Amino acid sequence: MRQKIVAGNWKMNKTLQETEELINALQSDYTTTNTEVIIAPAYVNLYRSQELLNSSKINVSAQNMHFETTGAFTGEISAEMLQSIGIDTVILGHSERRDVFLETDEIIAKKVRKALDQQMRVIFCFGEQLEERKSNTHFEVVSSQLKSVLSDLSETDWNNVVLAYEPVWAIGTGETASPEQAQEMHKHIRNEISVMSSEAVASQISILYGGSVKPANAVGLFSKEDIDGGLIGGASLKADDFLAIVDAAE
Ligand code: PGA
Repeated sequence: MRQKIVAGNWKMNKTLQETEELINALQSDYTTTNTEVIIAPAYVNLYRSQELLNSSKINVSAQNMHFETTGAFTGEISAEMLQSIGIDTVILGHSERRDVFLETDEIIAKKVRKALDQQMRVIFCFGEQLEERKSNTHFEVVSSQLKSVLSDLSETDWNNVVLAYEPVWAIGTGETASPEQAQEMHKHIRNEISVMSSEAVASQISILYGGSVKPANAVGLFSKEDIDGGLIGGASLKADDFLAIVDAAE
């Protein structure tokens, strides 16, 4: 059985006080299920979040990191720093990092390599732009994103990778891929992974869908065979909505 995962990407939202409030709200209403629940608060709130959730089943992830260990990289954070506060999961390759902060596949590949070398778990994000879907090149685009970052992984590395397919046209737009569109792509991704690694890896890897997932559309998406949960932006900022999405993954 593949692990179902619902991860909340809080992006640049929530002060320390608001972070504490949201974590408390999540903890008071959360009942343990088979789905792994992850939240990714802003950097400055990671330490406190980890402290609050230390003995909880809810895990904490970072939203990004640099590929170097230390040095003159103003404003950046290393894998070692994250691990020193107990964080062992990181989101890499998010479309906002690619589009707004101009991260290339090459940069993302270095970050993924570094995280995996540190035995951290990576939630690797990728997905096509609207024009690419319209011009029917979305399968090729996704294949190329996968290959440029994940082509030299060992079997052990693969055990620390979670995939998140996020069509860029669906992120924060209110427009979601239909369950059929998402399933079609997830199946394609799983097939690509089996070619790049092995059938065994492909059948056990969790592939999350992200892009305007809400309580109302989560059941339809998560009921599809190759969709193993979601990466949630906007709807992860409200405890009720996020926990309803977690329930939908059961
Ligand atoms: P959204 O964001 O749910 O607000 O569309 C998803 C994401 O960026 O991971």
